[in-house]
Amino acid sequence: MIFEHAPSCEPERQYYFIEQCRTLLQAQKERTGRQLSYKITTFGCQMNAKDSEKLEGILKQIGFLAAEDEKEADLNIYNTCTVRENANQKVYGHLGLLKSLKEKAPHKMIALCGCMMQEPDEVATVRISYPFVDIVFGTHNIFKLAELLCRKLSGEKQVIDVWEGTDQIVEDLPAVRKYSFKSGVNIMYGCNNFCSYCIVPYVRGRERSRKPEEILKEIRELVADGVVEVMLLGQNVNSYGKNLDEPMTFAELLRQVEQIDGLERIRFMTSHPKDLSDELIQVMKESKKICRHLHLPLQSGSSRILKAMNRKYDKEQYLELAMKLRREIPDLSLTTDIIVGFPGETEEDFLDTLDVVQKVQYDSAFTFIYSKRTGTPAASMENQVPEEEVKKHFSVLLSAVQEISARMSSRDLGKTLPALVEEVNEKNPSLVTGRLGNNVMVHFPGDASMIGKIYPVWLKESKGFYYIGERIDE
Ligand code: SAH
Ligand code: SF4
Ligand code: F3S
Repeated sequence: MIFEHAPSCEPERQYYFIEQCRTLLQAQKERTGRQLSYKITTFGCQMNAKDSEKLEGILKQIGFLAAEDEKEADLNIYNTCTVRENANQKVYGHLGLLKSLKEKAPHKMIALCGCMMQEPDEVATVRISYPFVDIVFGTHNIFKLAELLCRKLSGEKQVIDVWEGTDQIVEDLPAVRKYSFKSGVNIMYGCNNFCSYCIVPYVRGRERSRKPEEILKEIRELVADGVVEVMLLGQNVNSYGKNLDEPMTFAELLRQVEQIDGLERIRFMTSHPKDLSDELIQVMKESKKICRHLHLPLQSGSSRILKAMNRKYDKEQYLELAMKLRREIPDLSLTTDIIVGFPGETEEDFLDTLDVVQKVQYDSAFTFIYSKRTGTPAASMENQVPEEEVKKHFSVLLSAVQEISARMSSRDLGKTLPALVEEVNEKNPSLVTGRLGNNVMVHFPGDASMIGKIYPVWLKESKGFYYIGERIDE
């Protein structure tokens, strides 16, 4: 009955199921004398973090309470990542633990979603080896959580609903925020780049841009609700807007976001070097709100490897771009991602990567050991690099980036810069922790009333990767 009466268009359909779940949950509460609780465990990147906030919004609206501990929760959701093999192993590790918890508390519900569930082999593994998992869904239909829960609560044994792809963007569902003063905002979904090592395009689907008016509306609402900093999210924000009915550039979107009164800081992630335009550099230069931080993944410094990776730029083009950025915006913090041990990587290729690292002088860098992802072109390349060699290169690279990063992170010593206070310091409650525009943290005397506000802070001591500071009265 419940399902026959459901509206067919979204988001109305989901609001209908939220109400249905509320009623089912209320009945459970009356039977058991307590309200059910949830715990979401999120793996992976900011996209997943944002998706988890959406899931949480739906659960709160249904009437679930947040549980502190996954052991106590009545509903456990794992929002998974599959970008590297170790991300998958973590999930199966957790599932083992949940199985024994569920044996003691059979009413416990377990749901898996996110990127790993977009892989048919993983779903088959869950179906066969983890039959105690109640709900499985993917990245394209997270908005359907209430409907899937309804199916489970109405007696279905294992609910599996994974879509291969979608061109649908469902707007206007509830979401909660982890922080009151800052928020991620999706500007696009999916990726069309197919870097040869990367699984993301297969699990997140083709690139889809949200309409600018939807993005601006969301940001205005966030600002009205106390948000001062937004992080615009996309796998390659520089190609934003290309597939809209009325195409627009990312730089143009930034110009419009800049106009929003009350918004103080704008960040974005991630920029693919091949699409970074002069227009964007110009907008960043002129902006009062865009933070002086750019994450510009290098992946490799070797032109030969970059070609095999399908990155569509070479060593010289990357260096030229990085130098232009350093020249045009001298206080810009540049960070990057680097993969070590891509198939066929030689000593010479690795030295090219080190060379770029030395020349660009990254403020910080994430370094990854290449992980073979089934189904990607790189997985079937011969000449996979021996583990010993990869480990040796990885540790050489790590010490190089750490040494540079410690130096770069202290380059503003003695200056007074605005810091957005994020929390009271965990170790020393007489201090607060603030984030500078360039993403470096500063600890300085203060209290909880300062959270979410921006203060000028004198950076008086550098501790390598963070500062100790003092608030300066304006
Ligand atoms: N869209 C972003 C990155 C998304 S994945 C971009 O293009 O920069 C985040 C990072 O994970 C990548 O930048 C890459 O460095 C790393 N990564 C992706 N696939 C990987 C793999 N198979 N092995 C190791 N690292 C990988
Ligand atoms: Fe993966 Fe490349 Fe797309 Fe980034 S741009 S998500 S690395 S395929
Ligand atoms: Fe992000 Fe991992 Fe998916 S890095 S897009 S959560 S595969």
